Amino acid sequence: MVNLPGNRGSCWVAGAGRTGYSPLDGSIHAETVVVGGGIVGLTTALRLGEAGRSVILLEALEIGGQVTGRSTAKITTQHALIYRHLIDALDLAKARRYAEANSAGAALIKDWIREYAIACDLDRKPAYTYATSAEGREAIVAEAEAVRQIGLEAQVLDGAPLPFETTGALCFADQAQFNPAKYLVGLAHAVADRGGRMFERSRAILIGEASRWRVVTAGGTVHAEHVVVATNMTVKSPVGMANRTQPRCHTAMAFRIDDPLAVDGMFIGIDDPTHSIRTGSDGTGPLLVVLGPKFDTGQDGNVAARFVELEEWARRNLAVGEVAWHWCNEDYDTADRVPYVGEPDPEKAPGFHIATGFNAWGISNGTAAGMMIADTILDRASPWRSLYDPTRPYPKDFHKNGDSQSVVSGTRDIRPGEGGVIVRGEEKIAVCRDEDGALHAVSASCTHKGCTVTWNNADRTWDCPCHGSIFALDGSVIHGPARKPLASVEL
Ligand SMILES: Cc1cc2nc3c(=O)[nH]c(=O)nc-3n(C[C@H](O)[C@H](O)[C@H](O)COP(=O)(O)OP(=O)(O)OC[C@H]3O[C@@H](n4cnc5c(N)ncnc54)[C@H](O)[C@@H]3O)c2cc1C
Ligand code: FES
Repeated sequence: MVNLPGNRGSCWVAGAGRTGYSPLDGSIHAETVVVGGGIVGLTTALRLGEAGRSVILLEALEIGGQVTGRSTAKITTQHALIYRHLIDALDLAKARRYAEANSAGAALIKDWIREYAIACDLDRKPAYTYATSAEGREAIVAEAEAVRQIGLEAQVLDGAPLPFETTGALCFADQAQFNPAKYLVGLAHAVADRGGRMFERSRAILIGEASRWRVVTAGGTVHAEHVVVATNMTVKSPVGMANRTQPRCHTAMAFRIDDPLAVDGMFIGIDDPTHSIRTGSDGTGPLLVVLGPKFDTGQDGNVAARFVELEEWARRNLAVGEVAWHWCNEDYDTADRVPYVGEPDPEKAPGFHIATGFNAWGISNGTAAGMMIADTILDRASPWRSLYDPTRPYPKDFHKNGDSQSVVSGTRDIRPGEGGVIVRGEEKIAVCRDEDGALHAVSASCTHKGCTVTWNNADRTWDCPCHGSIFALDGSVIHGPARKPLASVEL
């Protein structure tokens, strides 16, 4: 078994507290049903609640614990190198729109934290994109020029204020970081205070049309004029999103540090292997959070090795103590690096809204997405619709399915604490051997579109190498697009 140091799980979620809403029970109606209690869903729900509209929110698991609660939670318009790319790949007007949407998202987060008195460790910090190569430095200078064209302010530095050598950095002053799980719990209370009806452990297993929209969970049904699928990857959409996006995973580690200002700022590297760095804290004290480079979800058979590399890199380059937490997180990339948000088919499926493909910058983009969706429901214009258009053309070769990385010849190859996929005739079975030697088996066929899952030896989950569904050892869904658990299997 792979024994990684520290607690398994996100340092933010651990200290965030619980909301404790009951599961949906029975049949109810609201103007809007929001599916998913992450930053997109809760922002949409609160905007609607503030406008006096009726909202029901269904969360499959518990609020705060999923992609948002496992992110680095930098609230910034500095998304590594993005503006040069947006100007070149789209145009200057769209690049400006992107900056406006993300500035508005970042501003709303700070306004709400103040207005609703959400205690979520908001900390104003500069954001730095740093380079470690000569080419990286050139890219930083080019990005600075693009940022100036957009109308944002940034400063080129000869090096980042980091304890290792860098060749240049681009600094955005007055950005911020926070504890995203605490923020979501605060948003949920604000929605409930404004009359929103919240349900946890209420996974949408069917979204269909009735007189308007009907969302079914194990315990009940919601009828609504609008449905907002805010499930990170859409679990249903009239225009499929799975092939327009690529699921990407990161490893994250939080280290104990003595000095809460050991690193003063939020940092993202642009040269391979890229790293992201920020400070934070949990109930025990200050932390330094360090992330490793992204990889395709379910397409790496040894995720634990990535954690070993990440720890080695952090110890070589930063003054860190013991590992307190480690976790994986995934988000979805898009070919043009702009999310897909809006009504994919307003004629045939009016009132059906989606938001996905945040390219690991969904704190500000996800807030802007919630604002835009709420504006649409409130019949207000939004300047961001064409930017985020979920039906815009995309290169067909962007998405790449993968194969399971965990096929073994038999259960004898599976050591205690490990998992493997065995083949029995036509059937593929995902088998985990627990620390006591007992075997636990579920079908290895993902319930989304049937790809064979890979064992994640760090998080101890079954990860799908096609569209990023993640399943627990008992087969239950942790992350969609799958809505149904892996089937149970007798060995
Ligand atoms: C490693 C990493 C670091 C990141 N760091 C940053 C950063 O520093 N700054 C930044 O701007 N962005 C960052 N991001 C991106 C950002 O975290 C995400 O884009 C954003 O949080 C996504 O929010 P969401 O609401 O779509 O997803 P989530 O927070 O996952 O919310 C979706 C919710 O829907 C629920 N759900 C799913 N299926 C169903 C169903 N069928 N029924 C009911 N509920 C369902 C889930 O349980 C979940 O709670 C990072 C991403 C990663 C992977
Ligand atoms: S997530 Fe699509 S097949 Fe598994």
